[in-house]
Amino acid sequence: MRNHSIGIDIGGTGIKAALVDTRSGVLLSERIRVETPEGAEPGDISLAVAELIDNFKDLKDQSAVGICFPAVVQHGFTRSAANVSADWIGLDAEGLFADALKRRVHILNDADAAGFAEIKFGAGRGSKGLTIMTTLGTGIGTALFYDSRLIPNSELGHIEIDGVDYETMASFAAMEKDGLSFQEWATRLNRYYQELEKLLSPDLFIVGGGISKKHELFLPLLDLKTKIIPAETRNSAGIIGAASLAAEIFRG
Ligand code: BGC
Repeated sequence: MRNHSIGIDIGGTGIKAALVDTRSGVLLSERIRVETPEGAEPGDISLAVAELIDNFKDLKDQSAVGICFPAVVQHGFTRSAANVSADWIGLDAEGLFADALKRRVHILNDADAAGFAEIKFGAGRGSKGLTIMTTLGTGIGTALFYDSRLIPNSELGHIEIDGVDYETMASFAAMEKDGLSFQEWATRLNRYYQELEKLLSPDLFIVGGGISKKHELFLPLLDLKTKIIPAETRNSAGIIGAASLAAEIFRG
């Protein structure tokens, strides 16, 4: 079978994987999940991913594997580390996983992967101009697309507002940590999205992350110039995006 790839989404708490039909973005298998090993060290994570991949060992054709990760990923090297061990910084992560999995591997930032899924199969299909995908979770991940083409590693969750890294104020984790109501959280989100509007004049915002399921509780509270819509691929966005991009890269 062609036109399929395995997608893997590595996070600070869990690692999820599924087989993806890369023409439609539909999952062809159950989503399987293991806990992220304590400390999230490179060696332990690569072992955990190899075990996950074992579930797909009946695929004899060595399907490509797409992996997304909560870090800046430049040409296969992880350059930062959010909620994972600092040993990832400067590591040839693509090489590490290719050795551990004995398959062709492509690795990218988790928000870039989620955004790629939305642009290809979800809320951002066919979008023109500048689209900014934001994932609201433990942190704020961002992905930029111009005329549907990814500009990787934007890291706009860390924009400083009033001298504070604003991911610590406006992520979903910050809402929970500070015990905010949706109205209070929306006030912070509004500030955040207005700052992005001021700096980048986007044409569209797409909001992902698990909480985007409840978008009707906070998106209507925002007052922005730019259209803002919820993501469609949600929890599987990273898996779908990572798998689809790997398929494109290894096909061409
Ligand atoms: C990281 C990003 C990541 C985002 C979502 C941020 O803290 O800097 O690389 O995309 O969290 O996981």
